[in-house]
Amino acid sequence: MDSASRADLASEDPHPPRTHTCGALRANNDGDAVVLKGWVDTRRDHGGLVFVDLRDRYGLTQVVFSPQDNQEAYEVAGQLRREDVISVRGTVRPRGEEAVNPDLPTGTIEVSADDLAVLNTSETPPFVVSAHEERQMDTNEDLRLKHRYLDLRRPALQKNIQLRHRLYQTTHRYFDENDFLEVETPVLMKSTPEGARDFLVPSRLHPGRFYALPQSPQTYKQLLMVGGLDRYVQIVKCFRDEDLRADRQPEFTQIDVEMTFATEEQVYDLTEGLMVDLWEALEDTALGTPFPRMTYDEALRTYGTDKPDTRFGLELHDVGDCFAGSGFRVFESIVDGGGRIVAIRVPGEGDRGRAAMDRLEDHVTDEIGAAGLIYFQLPSDGSGLEQNLSSDALPHAYGRAAAEQVGAEAGDLILTLAGDPPTVYEQAGALRLHMGEELGLRPPADQGEDAFLWVTDFPLMEYDEEAGRAVSMHHPFTAPHPDDVDALDDDPTQVQARAYDLVLNGNEIGGGSIRIHDRETQMKVFDVLGIDEEEAQDRFGFLLDALRYGAPPHGGIALGLDRLTMLLAGADSLRDVIAFPKTQSGKEPMVQSPDWVDPEQLETLALRLDLPPDVEPPAHVARRKRLAS
Ligand code: AMO
Repeated sequence: MDSASRADLASEDPHPPRTHTCGALRANNDGDAVVLKGWVDTRRDHGGLVFVDLRDRYGLTQVVFSPQDNQEAYEVAGQLRREDVISVRGTVRPRGEEAVNPDLPTGTIEVSADDLAVLNTSETPPFVVSAHEERQMDTNEDLRLKHRYLDLRRPALQKNIQLRHRLYQTTHRYFDENDFLEVETPVLMKSTPEGARDFLVPSRLHPGRFYALPQSPQTYKQLLMVGGLDRYVQIVKCFRDEDLRADRQPEFTQIDVEMTFATEEQVYDLTEGLMVDLWEALEDTALGTPFPRMTYDEALRTYGTDKPDTRFGLELHDVGDCFAGSGFRVFESIVDGGGRIVAIRVPGEGDRGRAAMDRLEDHVTDEIGAAGLIYFQLPSDGSGLEQNLSSDALPHAYGRAAAEQVGAEAGDLILTLAGDPPTVYEQAGALRLHMGEELGLRPPADQGEDAFLWVTDFPLMEYDEEAGRAVSMHHPFTAPHPDDVDALDDDPTQVQARAYDLVLNGNEIGGGSIRIHDRETQMKVFDVLGIDEEEAQDRFGFLLDALRYGAPPHGGIALGLDRLTMLLAGADSLRDVIAFPKTQSGKEPMVQSPDWVDPEQLETLALRLDLPPDVEPPAHVARRKRLAS
């Protein structure tokens, strides 16, 4: 039957409203007269009967059509296809013992259909949406996103969206109970520096001027504290034009928080309380508090990152001292130049074969970007030390000293990288994660205990080679440690910030700080960041003005709601917890954004395109452009 004549099957709904959802019926409904509505998940013709699994957000119910009950309904049921929308009037019956499906909440019953109405037909969907293939998410993702309305019918995705909903509700309740006010801040605003590019919106009324979409409501939430609102929270969209990864979207959602008179301890307490409530409500798990803490410096030296996954070992060790006097020029010159030799002890890999080690070396140079990998192996038969260097280049005693320092035993492998900090630590951190994953030590997203960690004592600024000056590690409104303010002039990278990040299983799920509330210090920080007085006034005059009028001490945090949901859902990508996400290249395949606009729209905004030579508007836009000119 072609799709045109199938469309004739559809009619207005002759039935009363549904009495139950497709997930509601149980054995105690036996004999009930019911009306169900939903999508055809699967149809099976079997033994003179038609079986339809009817699906909605709540579950799946088996419906049986028999020619004895209603010949016409039976015939129409035989023509049903996946994703047709139907209404069924029928009676609940227990399933025969052999037909009970213990995996399905409705698996002990079925609905014997007295009548069927087709409310709408579906063309063959571009991919299968069946509840029976719940975890199957591997259909080409672009295709899924292009037809997201179909993709969203998948139970796995619906579960994530429901989880996200419950996360909103628990969050709202928690902050309400703690006296926070939810305040909306503008979306059309002025640039806030969070380290990414802005998305800009041209102003029609003020030709040549642009609003910026908020990278975060940072300045507004501070102004709310100056405004005496005391405790602010907002579940808020933020926009950042940056390169995308599985854990980054150009528009994402924060749980944004600010408190007057806050100390670090109060922010930690409040945030931990929220996590406890979320894990209790969504995971039925009692989290232990307080969460462990680690300084930025320790995190970098021990895990090679400011967001350590502490669920497995393979910690980094500084072994530079072990090679002093070795005559091994590569190491010695690096150490003499202020560099580090960083080692990882990998238990049980001392017998790893040459080919596997060659592959690892390739990974280190090609993927991680380190200059090279030097390793030592202690075979499990206790036969001594092997190294991927000729023995005259590095006498074995030095390798043995390094092995000893990292506590290696027979059967272990010791990997070393050499270079300048912090890069060498970051590379060793990447190697640690790689080994952790390769050896199955790092639990997958949906398994293992959750490891929360506060990372504290960040530097206020880091040196940016490209910019040739210091840049903020968090944002320029972060308060320096009071003892360090004077050092701002000498070496700003040595100044400690009153900033903190919350890390979960190696993911940064939040970040915040105590803020600068004193105008002089704010001006000083701008100055060190290369923002002179005129520019500071131009970009942040409103904030500098507010700081003149009794701005109270304040601080806060923002949590990445999408990342939290992703981790709670055990998903690998933010795209699995956002209803309409963007692809890796920042596009939305369903509505096809970003899109070309009419030349007249550009004209109204006083804009003209100056496209790179290889980019051309499609014919219809070009045609309209010609007509307009
Ligand atoms: P920050 O920039 O650290 O801080 O952002 C807070 C948290 O938001 C999440 N996040 C993202 N999630 C998805 N996609 C992105 N592109 C993305 N960027 C950030 C992360 C991160 O920890 N105004 C400050 C907060 C403050 O100081 O109070 C801020 O925005 O989980």
